Amino acid sequence: MKSEFCHSVPPLDTIIYGDCREELYRLPEKCADVIFADPPYNLQLSNPLRRPDASLVDAVDDTWDTFANLREYDAFTREWLTACRHVLKDTGTIWVIGSYHCIFRIGTIMQDLGYWILNDIVWIKTNPTPNMNGTRFCNAHDTLIWAKKSQHEKGYTFNYRTMKAANDDVQMRSDWYIPLCNGSERLMTDGAKSHSTQKPLALLKRVITASTRPGMTVLDPFFGTGTTGAAAKALQRRYIGIEREPRYIEAATKRLAAIEPASCISDSEQVDLDAPKPRVPFSTLVELSLLAPGDILTSSDGKSTAIVQADGTIACGELRGSIHSVAAAAAGKAACNGWHNWLYRNSSTGNLQPIDALRTIVRQQLSNSKDERKRSQCTSS
Ligand SMILES: C[S@@+](CC[C@H](N)C(=O)[O-])C[C@H]1O[C@@H](n2cnc3c(N)ncnc32)[C@H](O)[C@@H]1O
Repeated sequence: MKSEFCHSVPPLDTIIYGDCREELYRLPEKCADVIFADPPYNLQLSNPLRRPDASLVDAVDDTWDTFANLREYDAFTREWLTACRHVLKDTGTIWVIGSYHCIFRIGTIMQDLGYWILNDIVWIKTNPTPNMNGTRFCNAHDTLIWAKKSQHEKGYTFNYRTMKAANDDVQMRSDWYIPLCNGSERLMTDGAKSHSTQKPLALLKRVITASTRPGMTVLDPFFGTGTTGAAAKALQRRYIGIEREPRYIEAATKRLAAIEPASCISDSEQVDLDAPKPRVPFSTLVELSLLAPGDILTSSDGKSTAIVQADGTIACGELRGSIHSVAAAAAGKAACNGWHNWLYRNSSTGNLQPIDALRTIVRQQLSNSKDERKRSQCTSS
């Protein structure tokens, strides 16, 4: 631990003033569901950038982006990425954005530290700044690395169905077309940009929508003007920001105070396509009389039948056990999903239907009673 003062509980919806390489260790271990990091790029600008007419380009020449050499930049990168492992939950993921100046070095260091890359996203800037001198290609994209904490971790959040539905029912791809932040979104202080590298809110909204659920905590160790916090608050997530320049904290604080959380966000599994579904054991179907002991189940290939037992197991000849083990043994397979394999006869239609349809009915009942409980808590408080 690098400091005297530590937070015993995560300081949610707060901007912490300081160097993230120290401040991250003051936070409780594993308090972040997702980290979004937009670190210094190390642009290494040796001379002022000028247009062909000799006017000065408003380039990123801030002191926070200045490193003596690549070795110093790598050491800095290793330090903050190591500190991020302290706060990231085992099931969490980390996003790091960067340009060609830094993203390859960052990616290597991430892999060296044990992070496991899930995707790289190309943010294609629909309105990029032209290459003023015409000496090389116009640089029209940044890269985002999305990684989990380790190779074997399986429980991270990815709202696949939501992203697909939001993309007109087509699987969302890794090339994102989003304009640079400008117009009324760009924060200004005394007539000048408040920050040289303010990221577009749309980019952060997509990151947060894809990889978190309402109420989860997003931590940004290079908070700048607080774009991550603004997107998190708008989407009913929590944020923790760290920033070491007071002028940016001031701009971010004002910005965040003006954000209204969106009202139409729900984590109810009926509305939210990616809400985790409650586990329903097969025995519940018997307990709730959706199936009765003695009912006959037919396998989806029509080759075997099984009898529902009073204790929530099923029997198929000599075989007795769970809907899955009996389905697998009867079909001579290593594994089989019994919910989709076994069909029951629907008494109203007379048709055979997978027993999964009955599980859906139970889940709907559970969800209705959860919503009912929430409503009554709201009215009584
Ligand atoms: C690329 S900018 C982030 C911009 C931000 N995403 C936004 O939309 O406004 C990097 C930020 O990191 C801050 N910074 C640099 N080194 C830092 C450090 N060691 N600890 C905390 N903040 C740092 C800089 O002051 C700068 O505001």
